[in-house]
Amino acid sequence: MTRAFGFRVATLLAIVLLLAGCGRNMVDQPNLRPLQGSEFFADGAGMRPPLEGTVSRREGAVDPVFLTGQGAGGLVTELPVELTLELLQRGQERYDIFCSVCHGHTGAGDGMIVSRGFPAPTSFHDQRLLDASVGYYFSAMTNGFGRMYSYASRISPEDRWAIAGYVKALQLSQNATLDDVPTDVRLELENSEGRVR
Ligand code: HEC
Repeated sequence: MTRAFGFRVATLLAIVLLLAGCGRNMVDQPNLRPLQGSEFFADGAGMRPPLEGTVSRREGAVDPVFLTGQGAGGLVTELPVELTLELLQRGQERYDIFCSVCHGHTGAGDGMIVSRGFPAPTSFHDQRLLDASVGYYFSAMTNGFGRMYSYASRISPEDRWAIAGYVKALQLSQNATLDDVPTDVRLELENSEGRVR
């Protein structure tokens, strides 16, 4: 047996022994799934409650208006977050993902799912919904509305406000006149060719 051959055998042996050492002990150890019971804690619950007095630092966590869309005088008529172009762009992106499938890209209630037989929602350009406050839209997403499920667990409150703001902008856009456009943007529009988004 040459030295090189002996070395190779020894290396292979070492690898085999090392691999045999990789058990599944870490994977198979006792562990709990969320909400599973446990005899370890006195209250019988596997999940631990937050310490008493814990205050969430999440934005708006302690602001009921931000979380519900309801103020002292009912559904709020103003966004509880700053209205910026970024907010509306985020709202547009989220709306196109979550809402346009039923409500349609323009809000007319003619989305793809509706064209396949799902009940058509009222157009967002219906006078009743044009008059509805931004809080109304936030609340409909948060609590669901009739046959429409709640989006509370799927869309964060921040994004629900962004979408609500975007829907109000969408409504404006569908009923806007050229006079609503600021002069500089208007010149740009008039000089541009083709479709402007
Ligand atoms: C699966 C289809 C579907 C999706 C997706 C959907 N909706 Fe709806 N929505 C409906 C239907 C249908 C109604 C009317 C329900 C009824 O009257 O029973 C409705 C009602 C509403 C209303 C109340 C309208 C009124 O008549 O007062 C609002 C506001 C609304 N939706 C907003 C949204 C927003 C914002 C999103 C996206 C986050 C969304 N919806 C996603 C189907 C949908």
